[in-house]
Amino acid sequence: MAEFDIVIKGGTIATAADIMRCDIGISGGRIAALGEGLDAGARFIDATGRLVLPGGIDGHCHIDQPMSDGSVMADDFTTGTRSAACGGTTTIIPFACQVKGRSLREAVQDYHRRADGKAMIDYAFHLIVSDPSDQVLGQELPALIKDGYTSFKVYMTYDELKLDDRQMLDVLALARREGAMTMIHAENTDCIAWLTEKLELAGRTQPRFHAISRPKPVEREATHRAITLAELVDIPVLIVHVSGAEAVEQIRWAQGRGLRVYAETCPQYLFLSEDDLGQEGIAGMKCICSPPPRDKANQPAIWDGLAGGVFQVFSSDHAPFTAGDAKGKLVAGITPPFRRVPNGVPGIETRLPLLFSEGVGKGRITLQNFVALTATSPAKIYGLHPRKGTIAVGSDADLAIWDPARKVRITNGKLHHAVDYTPYEGMELTGWPVVTLSRGEVVCEEGAVKGTPGRGQFLPRGRTWPCCRTRGLADAV
Ligand code: URP
Ligand code: ZN
Ligand code: ZN
Repeated sequence: MAEFDIVIKGGTIATAADIMRCDIGISGGRIAALGEGLDAGARFIDATGRLVLPGGIDGHCHIDQPMSDGSVMADDFTTGTRSAACGGTTTIIPFACQVKGRSLREAVQDYHRRADGKAMIDYAFHLIVSDPSDQVLGQELPALIKDGYTSFKVYMTYDELKLDDRQMLDVLALARREGAMTMIHAENTDCIAWLTEKLELAGRTQPRFHAISRPKPVEREATHRAITLAELVDIPVLIVHVSGAEAVEQIRWAQGRGLRVYAETCPQYLFLSEDDLGQEGIAGMKCICSPPPRDKANQPAIWDGLAGGVFQVFSSDHAPFTAGDAKGKLVAGITPPFRRVPNGVPGIETRLPLLFSEGVGKGRITLQNFVALTATSPAKIYGLHPRKGTIAVGSDADLAIWDPARKVRITNGKLHHAVDYTPYEGMELTGWPVVTLSRGEVVCEEGAVKGTPGRGQFLPRGRTWPCCRTRGLADAV
């Protein structure tokens, strides 16, 4: 009888720490052995000339999330996870979002109903806390954290989601008590509202004015304030979708002072710019996201942050709004003011190939850094490591086998999401994941989907950060 269900032979394996040549023996969906000359397999996958990497963890994506503006996300858990898998991702963490005035537990139950029986790869949920009422802070959130929903996002902007500073302090203090990770959307809401009002009064409502309504100082100020609030409470936080060089400076400054401030960035801040947003009509609307893509001169600062350790996490922030019908970007009409265009861009499948080709392939980041940013660090920060995010004996056999020389021209027709466009149409990349395994099962091979909806499992998670040191100020909360 074969010792292993599958042996992946002859590949070059990379983790966040090492690059090595060895075979991988897989049994019962887990990595059972790493070694030379593993021959006792019921099945073999030849990885000669290929890289074998941990499957990606997309720690920030939006899938079938109910929206308050009448728009409907195109991707459900089947199409979203299928697209993720074909892009080399094996775990996603989308958001169960509380509606103001409603229960957080109810949002989680609803989100499970949306995911049940549909996912092709494993998934966990972050929470979005939009209404930290006594009931939420006193009962629901602590109970949900104990049940394995150990991270949540809070917003400093968007009327239907935003918290004020006092509410932020309340949730940060709770995160500290319960051992949860807080993700912060950092933009100054009053500045945005003021600028938007002035722009609208002047008739400046085309997509390019979206960027003018949310300039870099708006992100910089909120990032600094988020850092300050976290310092007061003495709690690690993660600033999500960081876009501007000025916010990067704030985070670098905080990290230099020894504060545990983690940061995430996304492909749109490396590969899109205000020029894309500046296109007329739907072409510009397709690139509306918040924070907005900045000027081209800003992009090297994001690359520097990735290479230099300011960023720990590289996520897609996949927001699957169609461009060609009234369910997505056109929900408020054909030429709506930028304020009424659903925010976000699709990118769950292109996240890893873009960073691999333009980052590893062009010598901007190392292969180990790529693995850390896209798999290992999100697994650690969000309480999934070592089950996910690495290649080690005992870990789930969540693997992506890459052809590092494969030339691919991105076209939406090649992608597996349900969105009718990609903002990266026409980009020529080198390197693509050719086989993706989830718990030892091939879920995507040469662009063909092999996984079945419903095979993906929900992942309750452990505490997200080790008990922190205490300081006098924090002890009071
Ligand atoms: O524009 C964006 N990023 N849309 C998705 C929602 C969010 O704030 O992450
Ligand atoms: Zn956000
Ligand atoms: Zn998002």
